[in-house]
Amino acid sequence: MANVAVIGSQWGDEGKGKIVDWLSSRADVVVRFQGGHNAGHTLVIDGKVYKLHLLPSGIVRQGKISIIGNGTVIDPWALVKEMDSVRAQGVELTPENLKIAENAPLILPIHSALDAAAEAARGNRAIGTTGRGIGPAYEDKIARRSLRVCDLEYPEVVQQKLERMMFHHNALLRGFGAEEMSADDIFDQLMDVRDKILPYMAVTWKILADAHKAGKRILFEGAQGMMLDVDHGTYPYVTSSNMAAGQAATGAGVAPDAVGYVLGITKAYTTRVGAGPFPTEQDNDVGQFLGERGHEFGTTTGRKRRCGWFDAVAVRQAIKLGGIKGVALTKLDVLDGLDEIKVCTAYELDGEVIDYLPASQVKQAAVKPVYETIKGWSETSAGARSWAELPAAAVKYVKYIEELIGTPVTLLSTSPERDDTILMHDPFEV
Ligand code: GDP
Ligand code: IMO
Ligand code: MG
Repeated sequence: MANVAVIGSQWGDEGKGKIVDWLSSRADVVVRFQGGHNAGHTLVIDGKVYKLHLLPSGIVRQGKISIIGNGTVIDPWALVKEMDSVRAQGVELTPENLKIAENAPLILPIHSALDAAAEAARGNRAIGTTGRGIGPAYEDKIARRSLRVCDLEYPEVVQQKLERMMFHHNALLRGFGAEEMSADDIFDQLMDVRDKILPYMAVTWKILADAHKAGKRILFEGAQGMMLDVDHGTYPYVTSSNMAAGQAATGAGVAPDAVGYVLGITKAYTTRVGAGPFPTEQDNDVGQFLGERGHEFGTTTGRKRRCGWFDAVAVRQAIKLGGIKGVALTKLDVLDGLDEIKVCTAYELDGEVIDYLPASQVKQAAVKPVYETIKGWSETSAGARSWAELPAAAVKYVKYIEELIGTPVTLLSTSPERDDTILMHDPFEV
């Protein structure tokens, strides 16, 4: 099994960026297959911090090909800004090492305007989106209205599609009581940016097919996490794409059997940013401790993340639905110094114990976690690079989680730094 897909197993921000960067030394091609610049993936390499949103996390390594796949949604202005900012950090970006799918849909200014208007209209039921226009851009894709990267070559197609799109969306904006937008303005902005995007446009499914045939290793990089999946997550408090492994195939343009080993990135506790059910949330000193120790502030929006105990029910569900074969457990070090650690092993709903998260939003809001309490550790696990360096109680915690989720921990991360990573089984060699 030569390829690996990395997906989040909770509500995002599990440390996917760090793990993808680490694994990319073993890969030839890294491809993003869903989501957009709502993602924020942080890499720390010898103290230097890179914050990536749409660029694949393999981009900082030389000699790798990075692909932004057809399953993503691309805001061309945000992408150009991100490219400029990583270039300023010394990363080389050329049409040789960065390829953008010709069939990826674009996020336009109208989509962020609609995102904001829809959120405002939801009032106290707002999702707490990142405001990046992700939902409306995916709606347009499914409604067959999108402008795609390949359209940028043809101004007349851009004009025509924009007029149709804005006829539809201005009616919506009027309904929301928001200001209408002009197709001509968006057209002009697109004509200004297209020369910065088109050189990177490529037939990415073909590049991937050739790479796979040649025995090259492909690393699929997911964004968000299974509990934010539009089908399987805490709907409607989700993002507008799928995270499950099947999406790696459709969103990159490869056959399902090319996806290979699915690695679920899993935080040693739980966080979520934005609104929606979060059974193990600790809106108290424990949550405060986790947030401060884990620096739990959003990479994209800077919002404070909600924090809570590890939820084995949600992760078990993510493992089954996502096709996860092994887990990379991150941020174990954040638990250093806690006397006791709680883990949610089941839920209670209307006096009954259940072992899954039901789909109904009423039930999701009502489930109560059933906790087991285990002993914490006073020693430090931060920066550990081998099992032998870990406190005995921390090893026990990892083993306990493995048992609860019925899936091996194949990688362990003990700090934001690239090399503070312990490998148990190489996912490319499984
Ligand atoms: P992603 O969206 O899944 O890529 O995760 P983010 O980058 O949004 O958030 C994870 C945060 O935790 C980042 O600031 C990482 O630098 C940091 N991080 C990753 N792994 C570890 C770890 O093992 N320990 C600690 N303390 N921080 C980590
Ligand atoms: P990474 O890849 C955490 C959340 C938002 C909001 C919901 C919908 O860094 O793990 P959207 O803007 O996508 O329509 O917002 O999804 N969300 C994330 N939460 N990590 C992310 O990405 C997220 N991307 C979106 O906070 O609750
Ligand atoms: Mg993130």
